[in-house]
Amino acid sequence: MSTTSRRGLFLTFEGLDGCGKTTQMRLLARHLRAAGETVIETVEPGGTDIGRAIRRILLDPRNQHLSAAAEMLLYFAARAQNVDEILTPAIGRGEIVVSDRWTDSTWAYQGFGRGLGTEVVQSLDRIACRGRRPDLTFWMDIDLETSLERARSRNRDQAAEETRMDDQERAFFERVLQGYQALAEAEPDRVVRVDGRGTVEEVAARVAAAYDGFRSRHV
Ligand code: TYD
Repeated sequence: MSTTSRRGLFLTFEGLDGCGKTTQMRLLARHLRAAGETVIETVEPGGTDIGRAIRRILLDPRNQHLSAAAEMLLYFAARAQNVDEILTPAIGRGEIVVSDRWTDSTWAYQGFGRGLGTEVVQSLDRIACRGRRPDLTFWMDIDLETSLERARSRNRDQAAEETRMDDQERAFFERVLQGYQALAEAEPDRVVRVDGRGTVEEVAARVAAAYDGFRSRHV
C-alpha cells in the first residue's frame, strides 16, 4: 500500500445497513496508519457533538412521523457541521479522512429510498459540503437478504435504540440498493464497487487493492 498524502485525502465507505463497511473502514484506517499516514475516522450522521444530537433525532424509533424533507435536511445539517469541524481542517493539514457514510447515503436512502430524487440531494450537497467531495468511495456491495438479516440480528443483540431507518419496508431498501448501483454507474472513477461477500480478511484485501489502484492513478 502506498504512502503519503500531502494534499489530504477524503475516503468514504458506503452501502446497505450491515454491509460491513464500519469494520472495513477501521481496517483500512489501521493499515494506512501502519504505513505512516495520519488518519481521522468519522461517521455520518454523528461525527461531531452536534451531529450526535441530530443522529439521536434521526434514528429514534419514536420519530416515525419525521417528514422526508426534514429527514434529508437533518442528515445534511449533521454533515455541514462535520465539514467545518472535522473534514476541512484535517484536509488542510494534509491528513486522510475516512468517513462511515457521506452524501452518497443521502443519494441512495433519501434520493432513491424516499423518492426525493437526486437533484435536490446534489443541490443540498453544494450548500452543506461546499464542494468537498470524496476522492474515493468504497461501495460495499452485499445482497439485500444478507443486509436485512444482519440488521435484524444486530437489533436483537443490542439495545434497539437506533432502529428508525432499519424499520423501513423491504421495498425501501430495494430502492436504496438501486441508488447505489446507479451511483456506481454514474461515477465509475470515484465509486468503487467492492464485493462484500466472504471473510473479513477477503473483503479487506479487496478494499486494499482498490485503494492501491486509486493511488497508482493519482500520485
Ligand atoms: P448507522 O448506524 O450508521 O447504520 P449502519 O451502521 O447500518 O451504517 O445508521 C445510519 C442510518 O441512517 C442508516 O440506516 C442509513 C441512514 N442514512 C440515511 O438515510 N441518509 C444519510 O444521509 C445517512 C448518512 C445515513
